[in-house]
Amino acid sequence: MAQVINIQNMAQHVGQEVTLQGWIYQKTGKGKLQFIRLRDGSGICQCVVFRPNLGNDDLFAEIKALGQESALRVTGEVKQDDRAPGVPGGYELDVKSAEIVQAAQEYPITPKDHGIEFLLDNRHLHLRSKQQWAILRVRGTIKRAIIDWLDNNGFLNVDTPIITPSAAEGTSNLFEVGYYDDTAYLAQTGQLYNEANIYAFGKVYCFGPTFRAEKSKTRRHLSEFWMCEPEIAFCDLDQLMEIEEQFIEYIVQTTLKERRAELDVLERDLTALENIRAPFPRISYDEAIERLHALRDAETDPERKAMLAIEWGEDFGSPHETELTKQFDKPVFVYGYPTQVKAFYMEPWPGRPEVCKSVDLLAPEGYGEIIGGSERMSDPEKLLAAIHAHDLPPENYDWYIDLRKFGSTPHSGFGIGLERTVTWITGISHIRQTIAFPRTLNRLTP
Ligand code: 4AD
Ligand code: MG
Repeated sequence: MAQVINIQNMAQHVGQEVTLQGWIYQKTGKGKLQFIRLRDGSGICQCVVFRPNLGNDDLFAEIKALGQESALRVTGEVKQDDRAPGVPGGYELDVKSAEIVQAAQEYPITPKDHGIEFLLDNRHLHLRSKQQWAILRVRGTIKRAIIDWLDNNGFLNVDTPIITPSAAEGTSNLFEVGYYDDTAYLAQTGQLYNEANIYAFGKVYCFGPTFRAEKSKTRRHLSEFWMCEPEIAFCDLDQLMEIEEQFIEYIVQTTLKERRAELDVLERDLTALENIRAPFPRISYDEAIERLHALRDAETDPERKAMLAIEWGEDFGSPHETELTKQFDKPVFVYGYPTQVKAFYMEPWPGRPEVCKSVDLLAPEGYGEIIGGSERMSDPEKLLAAIHAHDLPPENYDWYIDLRKFGSTPHSGFGIGLERTVTWITGISHIRQTIAFPRTLNRLTP
């Protein structure tokens, strides 16, 4: 065995003898030749097995009989070949020796068209396919870019609890868990704890799994998703939007730079992503409603007209966000939502108590909300009244109200949904493929 390398590093080993270890993705052959497209997790490489070079006819016959996903070690010389259809591509291995690690047969996922439920039932295997590989590699980069930007901009990562005693984002989608003799809930957000943490550290973020029992089936909702939530002391709504647009520009541009090959596999329109540079347009909820009314009035198809219907005071549904974002070629901020559709903790708009200092960031091309955020309520009496108005048990929020009494400052924060962001940046149509093992209304397996 020669030096074991990753397929993605083959360019550095042209002319050298190396060993690759991986799985058979595809295989064709004729006579004394076998062409194996070997997958090692970092890429795909064409390995050429020529019987006389192998010098072992029995082994050649065994290799010829291997099924898709058989595990293999191959050693040979790295050759540059512009015709080699590899990812990232351009290199092939001229095989001199091989070792079969496990011979697989009848792999259930074949190049034919399988239904989505079949693929989700076989998610433990489907993850190996090129498209899923590309999506999850992009996810890894987006996750790291999120962390890098925050770490490089003075934020401290502080972990917040997963098991919590109370709701923060409404009581209708809580997952209940037994907690000794008590009832607890899986975290919908780490925000309330982040608000305590800023008074110790200034700028903080948490990044972890988040749980919401979303009882509707949509392309945008998971029951378990990953959310990163930055929180900033001495920060108002305008400053929050400036932070968000710098942050999103960095994430998109970093992904474009580092994951070209994967975005190509997904046939993503790259010019749409290249355009994602700060500043982003900002419109008020009031203006968004006016735009939606104009769209509705111009619509001739009665079904679409009904779908676009919305009155001031109502929250946007997916069709509203989709149509709004099609009017912009960058993400758009919508700020100042009606208080009644948002969480209890948002600062009221000065002089307009029916509006709150909230801001959502909607991704273009119809993708819709990827970030929700706000300036937080600073007045302890108003906060207590809001807790009552939302029918929340005030005794659970004593500590949270307490924060308003000791050095309280204007402060703001936001939450970015990792899977929503991956859906948009990869340009795919459904959120369920952006996480290795999705949890949805009707799926808990595998
Ligand atoms: O808008 P949301 O509910 O805001 C919060 O939870 C705040 N506490 C955040 C904060 O200010 N610290 O959720 C934030 C983001 C959404 O914009 C969306 O990207 C994602 O979390 N999200 C979901 N992603 C997938 N599946 C779901 N069911 C989601 N619910 C929210
Ligand atoms: Mg939201």
